[in-house]
Amino acid sequence: MIGYHMGETVSGESSRERMMHAVGFHEHGDIEKFQLLEVKRPVPTDDEVLVDVAAAALNHQDLFAVRELDHYVPEYPFWGGGDISGRITELGEDVDGWSIGDPVVVNPAVTCGECEFCIQGEHSMCKHYQVYGEHRKGGFAEYVTVPAENLERVPENYDLVTAAAVPLAAATAWRALSTRGQIKPFEDVLIVGATGGVGTYAIQIAKNVFNVNTLYATTSTEEKAEFLRDIGVDHVINYTEENFDERIWEMTNKRGVDVVYNNVGGNTWVPAMRSLRNGGRLIVSGATAGPNPETEIRLIFVRQLEVIGSTQNSRKDFQEVLEYVWNGTIEPIVQEAYPLEEFDRAFSKMANRELHGKVLLSQE
Ligand SMILES: NC(=O)c1ccc[n+]([C@@H]2O[C@H](COP(=O)([O-])OP(=O)(O)OC[C@H]3O[C@@H](n4cnc5c(N)ncnc54)[C@H](OP(=O)(O)O)[C@@H]3O)[C@@H](O)[C@H]2O)c1
Ligand SMILES: [Zn+2]
Repeated sequence: MIGYHMGETVSGESSRERMMHAVGFHEHGDIEKFQLLEVKRPVPTDDEVLVDVAAAALNHQDLFAVRELDHYVPEYPFWGGGDISGRITELGEDVDGWSIGDPVVVNPAVTCGECEFCIQGEHSMCKHYQVYGEHRKGGFAEYVTVPAENLERVPENYDLVTAAAVPLAAATAWRALSTRGQIKPFEDVLIVGATGGVGTYAIQIAKNVFNVNTLYATTSTEEKAEFLRDIGVDHVINYTEENFDERIWEMTNKRGVDVVYNNVGGNTWVPAMRSLRNGGRLIVSGATAGPNPETEIRLIFVRQLEVIGSTQNSRKDFQEVLEYVWNGTIEPIVQEAYPLEEFDRAFSKMANRELHGKVLLSQE
């Protein structure tokens, strides 16, 4: 839990000096509920550190958090920001192996380490699973407390602000396509809703890491289609102009693709199944356009499809994808970094679907 320092510190700082700015909300609604707040700076517990935030990236999660995740929010005001990079500025008493000033990126999945799933290394199945930005206050603030086991070191030659664009989106895409989806180099893959955070990492994982045979993606404008081709998609389908399942059927000579990765849901759910070959795999880790679409059960059994759910990441998933980021195989696509005070511009961009990759709130 986040604790607050209420009085004088050893170094003589007053509680006034232990305040900080955060971008959060007192009540749920739409993005106009976000405000620049002055709140108490959290104090790390014995096994946590205090991170002086360099940057925090926006995720669709932050829109869901203000709009509807009232059952998750532990207390108000709440501020999100699941993707965090920064430097360690205070160490809890039991923290070993880290020093003040170390550059870090935060694994957003906070897990108990003791349940049957944690013991198997399946951290995102943890019975006490928490994630920064939904159950825990995150990095849209000057400081954040982080369990030491959630820290990963950012290489000194890697840009600390850019590192904030990585965790949630990249690790979610990695687990979905690699650990859960088991995609292979000879397979054809379709990514639905590809221009956002998760989508742009999914493209690079499919192309640069797994070198898949043919990569297809859907998007909604010609400008975004151009962007997707630039980062490696072989065939982009504008779903506002044609039915993407029909186009996939044509382009694959009525075979269908091996794998569809779909985080959009809603009215893309059945077309995603129709785009699959017999025995194909539909991987899902989100439902941006609606979690209760109509479905077509006959397609699942007649085509013998597998529907594979995936959520966020285990510690191993996180470390695996970071290696590809540090060595340049996967490059975070940062569309824009705004100062904390310009949060409304950043949130509008995401809400209006003007994204090409990641948008950050930067304090560097
Ligand atoms: N399970 C997990 O652990 C996990 C982790 C991360 C994210 N997610 C989920 O994955 C989804 C994507 O997250 P993200 O952060 O990458 O989001 P994002 O950056 O906002 O991207 C979403 C993309 O989806 C496309 N889209 C299609 N229909 C849409 C609609 N009706 N409304 C909004 N966008 C639509 C848009 O691209 P086009 O305009 O090109 O179609 C947009 O760029 C979200 O549902 C999120 O909650 C789940
Ligand atoms: Zn657990």
